Amino acid sequence: MEKITSLAKRRGFVYPSSEIYGGLAGVYDYGHYGVLLKENIKSEWWKSMVQLRDDVYGLDSAIFMHPQTWVASGHVGGFNDPQVDCRNCKSRYRADHILEGFGIPADKMPLDFLNTELDKLRAEKKLVCAKCGSADITPAKSFSMMVTSNLGSPVDSLTEENVMYLRPETCGGIYLEYKNTLDSLHPKLPFGIAQVGKAFRNEIAARQYIFRTREFEQMEMQYFHNPTQTKELYEMWKEVRWQWFLSLGIPAEKIRWYKHEKLAHYASDAYDIEYAYAFFGGSFKEVEGIHARGDWDLTQHAKFSGVSLDYFDEETKIRFVPHIMETSVGLGRLFLMFLDNAYTEVGEGDNTRVFLKFPPKLAPIKCAVFPLLKNKPELVAKAREVFALLRKDFMCEFDDNGNVGKRYRRQDEIGTPFCVTIDFDTLGETPALKDTVTIRDRDTGEQQRMSISELTNYIRSVIL
Ligand code: GAP
Repeated sequence: MEKITSLAKRRGFVYPSSEIYGGLAGVYDYGHYGVLLKENIKSEWWKSMVQLRDDVYGLDSAIFMHPQTWVASGHVGGFNDPQVDCRNCKSRYRADHILEGFGIPADKMPLDFLNTELDKLRAEKKLVCAKCGSADITPAKSFSMMVTSNLGSPVDSLTEENVMYLRPETCGGIYLEYKNTLDSLHPKLPFGIAQVGKAFRNEIAARQYIFRTREFEQMEMQYFHNPTQTKELYEMWKEVRWQWFLSLGIPAEKIRWYKHEKLAHYASDAYDIEYAYAFFGGSFKEVEGIHARGDWDLTQHAKFSGVSLDYFDEETKIRFVPHIMETSVGLGRLFLMFLDNAYTEVGEGDNTRVFLKFPPKLAPIKCAVFPLLKNKPELVAKAREVFALLRKDFMCEFDDNGNVGKRYRRQDEIGTPFCVTIDFDTLGETPALKDTVTIRDRDTGEQQRMSISELTNYIRSVIL
């Protein structure tokens, strides 16, 4: 954990938010390479979920939505986590997480159950604060995870009816734009709507780096379909999403399915894809949920808005409320998964080489260009020329700081798959090698000689 968080900060991937003011718990900022990695993950998701499909449409709905949205969805009043506090040091915990630490399954269990189990631990003197060791721990109480704002009304006149929430999940916008999508694009069932965007939750214990944050990004797709197809479509989406992880270099043995035994009352099936994070000592943790949500969402929004969200099937002449299959993944969790999977150390002691073995298509920088020597203007000019050529097609970097070994190390630590060096042979010192460069592979450290005119096609062939 320490190795990854410090590399991510030192190399400009992830910073704690507001650090100069002492930080802000559960909120993180993404630096230059972090933004690039995040954009590449998003674009791979979008390509697979929208670009390469005929049946999924894009959306970018607003973070603010009509307050009734969250009453209809059951979030107002129902989106709570069980909170306990240490009376001594004021540390805050989730009761279900404490119980799970003792091997007691507690996910989404009612407060009564949680408090009974906590009391048993208390009686056995096992319930103590992880931070200060005090046994003075409160009973569990419900804590709303909804984040409120004062948008559109003065704070002192806010009521439960007019309070404006920051969305706790992006799919709410998809349900509300189902009708506009239907009326404007006229898709036939089954079809999906996908979007990427920010969501906000008042997480009680946001102490797991970017795995669980209070502000985060989700990539969600809701697939509207006839309920007669639910079973086969569910299998189809499970397979599509599983293959996406494999296609981006995640080994099959590091991911697994987790089947939810306790389903929401409207759901017919719910599986998560879990990844074994070395970051968390190798434990499997949820990355993505694939859930069959029935007709709950559209039925609720039709009821609360008074607007019909039926679908009329022209062929069968039957009118019905479509059912929904959801795929929902957090970008921060994917980011951490790819970072975790890429982190590689070879060698020992002072000879340890650390590199991020990202699949080339996810690497923030695709190619770095170096002049062999900084103080030879003709080498620098040629390197600048090659850099100008490559950056038209790829995210590239020019580096003439320090010796070439140091530059390789820096590029290894940000996961750059290729480093190109311009030397005297490039300039024609050995006539047969004029206009060729060395290109070094991040993973093997091997170098080959290649002509400048071949570089663009070669790099493209590897990163696509
Ligand atoms: N629309 C369904 C939904 O939001 P969820 O299981 O609450 O379901 C879906 O969230 C995904 O969003 C999770 O699998 C996780 O990847 C991500 N996620 C949820 N809460 C998060 C948080 N506080 N920080 C980072 N990612 C989070």
